[in-house]
Amino acid sequence: MTQSLREPLQTLDPEIALLIAQEAQRQSDRLELVASENYISMAQREASGSVLADTTVEGYPGARFLAASANVDALERLAIARACDVFGARFANVQPHSGTQANQAAMLALLKPGDTLLSMDLQAGGHFSHGAAGTLSGDWYTAQHYGVDPHTGLIDYDEVLALARRHKPRLIIAGASAYPRSINFERFAAIAREVGARLMVDMAHVAGLVATGHFPNPVAHADVVTTTTYKNFRGPRGGLILCNDTQLAARLDAALCPGLQGTPLMHIIAAKAVAFGEAMQPAYHAYSDQVLRNARALGASLSARGIAQLTGGTDVPFVVADLRALGLHAAPLVRALDLLQVGCNAVPVPGDTDFEHAHGLRLGVSALTTRGMAEAECDIIAGIVADTAQALVAGQPPPAGAADAVLALCRRFALAA
Ligand SMILES: Cc1ncc(COP(=O)(O)O)c(C=O)c1O
Repeated sequence: MTQSLREPLQTLDPEIALLIAQEAQRQSDRLELVASENYISMAQREASGSVLADTTVEGYPGARFLAASANVDALERLAIARACDVFGARFANVQPHSGTQANQAAMLALLKPGDTLLSMDLQAGGHFSHGAAGTLSGDWYTAQHYGVDPHTGLIDYDEVLALARRHKPRLIIAGASAYPRSINFERFAAIAREVGARLMVDMAHVAGLVATGHFPNPVAHADVVTTTTYKNFRGPRGGLILCNDTQLAARLDAALCPGLQGTPLMHIIAAKAVAFGEAMQPAYHAYSDQVLRNARALGASLSARGIAQLTGGTDVPFVVADLRALGLHAAPLVRALDLLQVGCNAVPVPGDTDFEHAHGLRLGVSALTTRGMAEAECDIIAGIVADTAQALVAGQPPPAGAADAVLALCRRFALAA
């Protein structure tokens, strides 16, 4: 191999090495409550940085467009078998480069341009890849949306049924980015059946909980289930498609490759396989247990300090704090917490019309649970969030000592180097 290609990053490209080192420091000294964030295992890092990064194949195991693929065929088959095991599905496609591409593949397999889909409104906590304006799904398909009950913040299944009857969608999508409660997938499936629609469930924010039985499993109810493999699931950045129907599985495979993607990222598929393996271990079950306990502890501690939770609680790895009673928008609170090295983001609550003026603060616990934090730490964090919110309402600077408290927590629950 050419000598320069053997050089470590530090000497070959110190500029990039420095940026990576700075990012490691930032992650280490920051309390990450953005619900999409998590930390993968060293084993996944090893797999994703392995020689598989050099392997180019196209197509699927046993049907590649390039020869010499025995090792990666075995690897991808193993990833598929593990994904099916973890989620109780008959078919899995482990190749999507992202959650959005998994969703696009499902739509490409199930819809024609101009067809109608029915999904959760962005303002109610839906995801933009479910038909929002300005995205491929919103431009190619006619998207209709259901919201949540303005008083309870809960999905109104009667409204979903009424909208499904009125718009006759070919596809109904359940699953969201900022909906803090359990979802009745059986009810969604019944609604889809009644109007002759297919049902897709995007379980991106709860996949880890689904894997361990801490959240209802949509696989038996939906035609297609999609997810990201990172976030709460704690795998590498990428997507996954699951289904139980032989013919549909073939259409989904074709929709993803060659429909949307070319070569799969085999090093990422290896890391996904490791993550599926991790999800079957008792330690992962304990992790899910703690995620739910932490989310509920954080919500309860916030409520005790006068910050309500949207819907009054949570069944997912995050809490949506409802700032309406404080008369406070979430964006300035996000900025104030950011300066304290606490990461989180604004989400809409009923009545909000745009993100800058949203009153919901989404606080995820997946990453801090991976660090080993538990209920006691969630109480400390709730105190930091609530005190910062109260200070903003009073026009005061953030509470003295808050930044030190954040750093102390981060140091106590250190990330591996
Ligand atoms: C429900 C849901 N689906 C899909 C995605 C998109 O995933 P990606 O960013 O990997 O495309 C997200 C991302 O946050 C999400 O919340």
